[in-house]
Amino acid sequence: MNVRGQHYRTIWPNETDSRVIQLIDQRFLPHRFVIEEVRTVGEMASAIKEMHVRGAGLIGAAAGYGMYLATLGAASASSFDDELADAAAQLKATRPTAVNLAWAIERQLKSIGAAQSVEEKQRTAFNTAQQIADEDAEYCRRIGEHGVELIRRLSKEKIGTPVNVLTHCNAGWLAFVDHGSATSPIYAAHDEGIPIHVWVDETRPRSQGSKLTAWELGEHGVPHTVIADNAGGHLMQHGKVDAVMVGTDRTTYTGDVANKIGTYLKALAAKDNGIPFYVALPSSSFDWNIRDGLKEIPIEERGSEEVNYADGWHNGEQVEVRVTPQTSAAANFGFDVTPRQLVTGLITERGICEANEESILQLFPEHRGGSTRNAADEVGEAGLSESRPTRRE
Ligand code: MRU
Repeated sequence: MNVRGQHYRTIWPNETDSRVIQLIDQRFLPHRFVIEEVRTVGEMASAIKEMHVRGAGLIGAAAGYGMYLATLGAASASSFDDELADAAAQLKATRPTAVNLAWAIERQLKSIGAAQSVEEKQRTAFNTAQQIADEDAEYCRRIGEHGVELIRRLSKEKIGTPVNVLTHCNAGWLAFVDHGSATSPIYAAHDEGIPIHVWVDETRPRSQGSKLTAWELGEHGVPHTVIADNAGGHLMQHGKVDAVMVGTDRTTYTGDVANKIGTYLKALAAKDNGIPFYVALPSSSFDWNIRDGLKEIPIEERGSEEVNYADGWHNGEQVEVRVTPQTSAAANFGFDVTPRQLVTGLITERGICEANEESILQLFPEHRGGSTRNAADEVGEAGLSESRPTRRE
């Protein structure tokens, strides 16, 4: 997408030295646009853990490039394979909820494992990282093509007045390589001239909504209003929301949706008010091995300082202020799970389906029955990573 008229992806290899990966460091947005250069897998692991990059698709793409950087570092190690396995474990340990992370690492291990010489492994890792990034961008673009149809339909009923979409957190292009998931239909609608307005949930504690979603919608010229996290239910009760569109960090093959903390409450309010609740995701965010999202999806708990402090821009500087009493305990659950029965539809790169096993597997039949084994299991058998449980029917 464009930043001040220039096209950017969120992550890319340096044009003249592909051993350097460049990424937009999101910790400084919306006040400063900073590009970071990453040279080692350790630096990439920190960038993911400390959320210089975040969002399901981008975490996957960053892990893909991280594995490529690991092949460069492993060339001088006594055992290339051991070094690579350590790098995979280091990257996997950064963040637990977004399934794209493990998916990208496993895909890399599989392709690197099939190559012979060190040079071939490095070339393969680079190409695979590029493929993961290209696919992410393309799948998000297609999500926009499918999802815009829903907005077109809503627009017909609004006879010229804007369609009001509420979104939570940042499932925009900053959360992916380009386009975004939940925002992709919104950008597509805006680009074809459909009047649209977005209610942007602030999304405490890290404020990905007010900082990132608001910034990228603004850069693209999409009308939007930032609201406090608890405002959505009130707006829905008063007819000010036509649809909710959110992203996901992991969705089970049965349709349970893990997304940024607070999503579940929006889904409940949407259900109570008869408002459609859509989840947009590329197939890399499906977990084909987990049936029960509530019991089985690992929920990240982050440091209490993210709740205790807020940061912002003051007199040309980024400053942090304490917002809670010094003596209060704070808890920071990163995600919640919205059960499938609250989800109206899933918008994927292959089309829109219902949030249930049958409908999902109709779009992705290669994951039916025995074909649900993924790269993780195969790589695990080769001894490079832990194997994951195969799906139980
Ligand atoms: O903690 P984050 O910022 O990495 O959380 C991810 C998210 O941005 C959201 O949960 C998003 O809605 C889904 S990721 C496309």
